[in-house]
Amino acid sequence: MEHLIAPSVLAADFGNLKNDLSMINLSNADWLHVDIMDGRFVPNISFGMAIVKRMNELCEKPLDVHLMIVEPEKYIEEFRAAGADVITVHYEACPHIHRTLQQIKASGAKAGIALNPGTPVSAVSDLIEDADLFCLMSVNPGFGGQKFIYQTLPKVRQLKSMIDEKNSQTVIEIDGGVGLQNAEELLKAGARVLVAGSAVFKAEDPLDVISRMKSIGKDTLIA
Ligand code: DX5
Ligand code: ZN
Repeated sequence: MEHLIAPSVLAADFGNLKNDLSMINLSNADWLHVDIMDGRFVPNISFGMAIVKRMNELCEKPLDVHLMIVEPEKYIEEFRAAGADVITVHYEACPHIHRTLQQIKASGAKAGIALNPGTPVSAVSDLIEDADLFCLMSVNPGFGGQKFIYQTLPKVRQLKSMIDEKNSQTVIEIDGGVGLQNAEELLKAGARVLVAGSAVFKAEDPLDVISRMKSIGKDTLIA
């Protein structure tokens, strides 16, 4: 099955958003990953709905909105109205996650659950059929440009087998420190969506990095 590339706009040049999003429109990227941080769930603050709305106007790709915020249920409909196609909330931020997933689906968006590096995948074993996507954080959320945490790999394999066991179509997304150096290993372990911020936007030739990430496994993965 084909994998998806989701460049993370957090690493873009906010003074030149239009340019950077035109580049994304021309690229082989599948989604635009949009990080929302509130200074409470994570130590950093990024941006809010007005910017997401503008990104949606400038970007032709679906918006994959990653909410690193407390009480995300208060803002689901607003992010959906701003243009979110996928809305991912953190397992650690949602005491009633089942209800929050239903709320996201009712808004018309795909529903994702993100897990911090310290949260075991077994925590979501009863939610496999309720989420469209699981986002495994491979850095501690809050900042771009961090080092990939290698313990994520066995988590990808474990979650993939939990998903297969239930015959579910849920996809695994990996977020943090992803680039050409580890993309193939992640895809082999069972990842379907690769988020890449610095690896794309800080590259000399972002279009080339996206194409190369997109074509990984064209020869090697298909047996
Ligand atoms: C981290 C964010 C990531 C980040 C990825 O809190 O959720 O999406 O933008 O950036 P890189 O690819 O630079 O690690
Ligand atoms: Zn993210």
